[in-house]
Amino acid sequence: MRDICYLNGEFLPLERACISPMDRGFLFGDGAYEVVPVYGGRPFRLPAHLRRLDQTLAGIRLPNPHTHEHWTRLIHELLAAGQWRDAGVYLQITRGVPEQRDHAFPEGTRPTVFMTASPLPAPMPPDSEQGKSAVRLQDNRWGRCDLKTVALLPNVLLRQQAVEAGADEALLLRDGQLTEGAASNAFVVCENRVKTPLQGPGLLPGVTRDFVVELLRDHGVACECTTISAEELARADEIWLTSSTKELLPVTRLDGEPVGDGRPGPMWRRTRAWFDEHKAAWAAGG
Ligand code: PDD
Repeated sequence: MRDICYLNGEFLPLERACISPMDRGFLFGDGAYEVVPVYGGRPFRLPAHLRRLDQTLAGIRLPNPHTHEHWTRLIHELLAAGQWRDAGVYLQITRGVPEQRDHAFPEGTRPTVFMTASPLPAPMPPDSEQGKSAVRLQDNRWGRCDLKTVALLPNVLLRQQAVEAGADEALLLRDGQLTEGAASNAFVVCENRVKTPLQGPGLLPGVTRDFVVELLRDHGVACECTTISAEELARADEIWLTSSTKELLPVTRLDGEPVGDGRPGPMWRRTRAWFDEHKAAWAAGG
């Protein structure tokens, strides 16, 4: 049952799901997506993910085929069909299947709607001694990185460049300022001050980022949303990555050099523990 997916109104085994090669998602990367983490069978921060989906779809001028209520119902049906308790739900909408390949929008095509679920990687415990590694790379993506579109080739190439440099993630710099990771948002801790790049068209409004900012504020820690220079990044005491699948990870090596003392930092450990507490309460129905 685990390989069950949803495609255009039907729940079916993943290996039986077929999409036309004329689909604009395949031809042009013309579509939007979301990844929603699920804990204890409950989608986490689903309204925020659905609001961001609305923003992406509005940004690419593709009407949302479903209301939030309908999406919520479909996600719960998918989780029930696959008997998922903890999972990452992937959902994608493309501009459908036109008769001919033409860059301009086709008329009257039905969007393709696809959804699947997969296991989440095990989170890093707060007492972990090991962190992740990152390299700084030039952010050469387009001007609307605030939209979560399936056209991810620049992110794919940047992440691969990081992997080939022996690192886990690329931290991206545009005009000398940190934007985000190739598939994550970033935080830095400098002299006990927590900072994350200011939201704008250059980075994705991460749902986990917003959650971590809230979590910090709830525990009396101010987080500044501001510009972060390449130099500030290089001398940060701590660097963190956030995403719906990575949750909250410490970066302990940047361009081969240790970040701080080269071990996950105290602020990360505290925030990671708060994250776990909140997650456990959510999974238990709180
Ligand atoms: N990516 N920035 C980029 C470029 C991302 O691809 C992601 C997540 C994030 C974090 O956003 P959120 O906290 O809402 O997941 C930031 C997902 C998980 C992916 O592409 O698989």
